[in-house]
This record gives sequence, C-alpha cells and structure tokens, in this order.
Amino acid sequence: MWAVADPKNVGFLGHMQESEIGLIGLGVMGGGLALNLERNGFSVCGHDADHGRREHFASRTQGPRLSIASSLSELTGRLRSPRCLLVMVPAGDPVDQVLRALGALLQAGDVVMDGGNSHFIDTNRRMLALRAQGIHYIGLGISGGEHGALSGPALMPGGDFAGWPRVRPLLQAIAARTEDGRICCDWMGPEGAGHFVKIVHNGIEYAEMQTLCEAYWLMHQVLKMPAAAIGEVFAQWAQGELGSYLMDISADILQRKDLDTAEALVDSILDSAEQKGTGKWASQTALDLGVSTPTITQAVFARALSGLKQERLHAASVLKSALSRPSANRAATLERAHNAVLATRICSHAQGFALLRAASREFDWSLPLATVASVWQAGCIIRSRLLLPITEAFNRQPGLDNLLVDPQCATMLARSECGLREVVALGAMHGVPTPAISSALDYYDSYRSVRLPANLLQAQRDYFGAHGYQRIDRVGKFHTRWQD
Ligand code: 6PG
Repeated sequence: MWAVADPKNVGFLGHMQESEIGLIGLGVMGGGLALNLERNGFSVCGHDADHGRREHFASRTQGPRLSIASSLSELTGRLRSPRCLLVMVPAGDPVDQVLRALGALLQAGDVVMDGGNSHFIDTNRRMLALRAQGIHYIGLGISGGEHGALSGPALMPGGDFAGWPRVRPLLQAIAARTEDGRICCDWMGPEGAGHFVKIVHNGIEYAEMQTLCEAYWLMHQVLKMPAAAIGEVFAQWAQGELGSYLMDISADILQRKDLDTAEALVDSILDSAEQKGTGKWASQTALDLGVSTPTITQAVFARALSGLKQERLHAASVLKSALSRPSANRAATLERAHNAVLATRICSHAQGFALLRAASREFDWSLPLATVASVWQAGCIIRSRLLLPITEAFNRQPGLDNLLVDPQCATMLARSECGLREVVALGAMHGVPTPAISSALDYYDSYRSVRLPANLLQAQRDYFGAHGYQRIDRVGKFHTRWQD
C-alpha cells in the first residue's frame, strides 16, 4: 500500500478512507488518467497485475489521494459504494479476463468503465452480461494519447445510462475543455455508442494522417522541397483554417533533426506503417451499413500497402512508368495543396459523420452529432479548427443528411475544389500516389452528381442475373430478356 497515513486519508475507524474510483491497468494511459483524477481532487486506488508497473506508478506519485492495491479483491474492498471502476487494459481478451475476475467482487449498482479502444460489438455484449448482475457498464472512448490522459483527454462515454450520474462528475472534471470552456465529455448513447464514436474518430484520424502524408510527399517529390521546408509550410498552415493537432505535430516532426546524422529525422524513418485496427473497424462497419467512407478506407489500405516494402522494391524495378511530369510552380502548388487538404478534411469528416448517422439509425442510438463534434474540439487527436463549423452545422440542422451540403462547408468546398482537382491531377502526372486526396475528390463528385452510371449497372445485373431494374419513367421493377 503506497498511500501514506495522512490525516485526510484516515476515516473515523482509523482505516484508509474509501477511494472514489478504482483504476485497473497502470500503463501509460491508465497511469496518466489516475494522476489526472488525483490532480482534480479525487481519491484513486490503482491496480495492475504487473508488479513492475505498480512499482513504476508508485515512483511517479506520492500523493495522499492515490493508493495502490496488489490484488483486485484488495482494490474492490477499498472503494466507496456504489463502486466505480475504470479498466485501462488492452482491448480484446484482457478486458474479458478482468471482467471475469471482477465478477464475484462487484455488487449491483457498481459502475464499470472500459476506457480502451474496444470494438463496440464487444461493448454491447459485455454491457448486457453485466446488466444481468445489476452492474452498470460503460464503454468509454478516450482520445488524446499519453499527454491527453494526463492533462485532459476527450471522453466519449456510452452504455448503461444508469451509471452515468455516478461517473459524470469524475469524467467531466478530468476532460479537456474547448477555448470557450465547453467540456469535452458528454453522453454519447446506449450500448457500445461511446466506443463506436471513438472508432469513427480513429477512422477520421487515419484519413487525416494519410492526407497530411500525401501533401508532404507531393511537396517532396514534385517541388523537391526538403522535409524542414515542408515543416515550415505546415506550421504556417496550422496558423490558419487548417489548424489542427495533427498539422502541428506533423510540422514539428518534419522540422526535427536526427541527433546522429543532423539530417531530417523523418528521412531516416522506414516508410512502412502499422495499425492496431480501429481505422479498419470503422471501414468494416461502413461496409456492413452500406455507407461510403472511401477516404477513411483508402487510409487503411494505404497503411497496408506501405507494409509491403519488399514487394514495392521489386515492383519499382519492374513497373517503369512513362511520366510526363509537368513543371509545377511552387507558390501555386502550395496554395493548391492547402486547398486540397482542406477539401479532403471536409470530405473525411463528412464520411465519418455519415457513418455515425447510419449507425445511429441502424442501432437506434440517437447519437448527438453536434455533441460529438463539440467533444472532438479539444483533447483528442483529430481536434481542429474545422470542428467548430461542423458543430455549428449539426446544431443548426441536427438531421443534416451530409456535411457537404451544410452551407458553410459547401462554401469552403467551393473555394477549395479547384485546388483539390489540380493536386489530384498533379499527383497522377508525376506518379505520386494520393489515395486519400483522390478519394475525397471522387466522393465529392459522386455525391453531387445528378446522374451516375448506375443505370448501366442495373442493366448488367439484370442481364446476367435477372435481378430486375427500376425505370425513371415508371414505378416498379422491370426485367428484360436481354439474350433473346
Ligand atoms: C487517440 C488515438 C489512440 C491510438 C490508437 C490508434 O485517439 O488517442 O487514436 O487511441 O493512437 O491506438 O492506433 P493505430 O494507429 O495503431 O490504429
């Protein structure tokens, strides 16, 4: 036990006072959240199955409001009733293992939150199982990384609403705040709604990251700009309407020198990215629900393709392309790239919100889209200036079909569309892949098309499969005997 015998900690029986919340998993995120809770005046009892992690955490704090339990039964015995627990272990089996181990130690009325990047289907299942025991289960989407956990993350709770009043003061105290003081934590909806909102956040995160990578690579390959100069452009963009956390860190990364070589560090990093799967889940759910999220999905594909380093090396020696490589004016290209990034950002958010809207209908969740946008304005990885007009768009029109047709977004698209087209064309002529940016243009052009060639598609299906087709001049389903 690490808490010291501070008078404030000693109850009338002379025992340690009961803690307000128990935190299971004292890794980077769990440890940061425990310290954040403590700083905000809450007593926290932490536990980690790993002794070394318990020791490490203990070395980071001597605060009188923090204590450490060496077992789950010790932990649950130290909590004020009804108990409140936050599980911060890796998504998947580890969560089920902790819940199984907690099973006999909890009582009806206790609240358990899972703050990992869990799949919302798992959260649905866990919530139903625990509800049978009278335990309120909450799937808590958390974004902000190590720094956010410690100083103010964006929090997306959803699940058993009966547990919300118990945990709300704690979560809202530690969450990030927007510049005008709004708290970046609010109720998202029933079942796995909170974790689903986090999955879509990560889908947009993938799209945003890939878009910035493409803008960087275009400047590098076409304009032959060194990384540091591109970093300066990003830093400049970050001051304007493209301002975002990911823009800030990318500017920083590109300007960072390798201590060993004194060259740009990014030039020494392998061009092959990994993923834990949350972006993939966004795309998988989009396919299941029949929602078009091409920019998010292209970003997932781009990571997968980047991983084929050896195959790419071989292909580069076989597939020699004949490129015309038109010359590009630097100032004009940078302006176009700026606009292409803006248009792509609007499109990837439009896709993410369309996915949220479809899931809300399918699962009957009534997701509060304006609240989602507002919660994402600070603390999380995709925080950006764009989220303010997006919040305003859903406040004006909660039933908005698609962000692209919101008047403010449509105006931004109208002035950035030309840059988007020119950048896609420039990338194509130079053989520089722009899967995210190109997909945004296709999404934009498809969504605003009065007619698409799906008439031919209907006919093809009817031709080989007798699936029938609809007509523009008559109601009903029709079939043609094409091969007679
Ligand atoms: C966040 C991040 C965070 C993390 C994910 C994504 O919002 O704080 O999304 O949850 O970076 O693990 O990781 P992958 O890129 O590996 O999917």
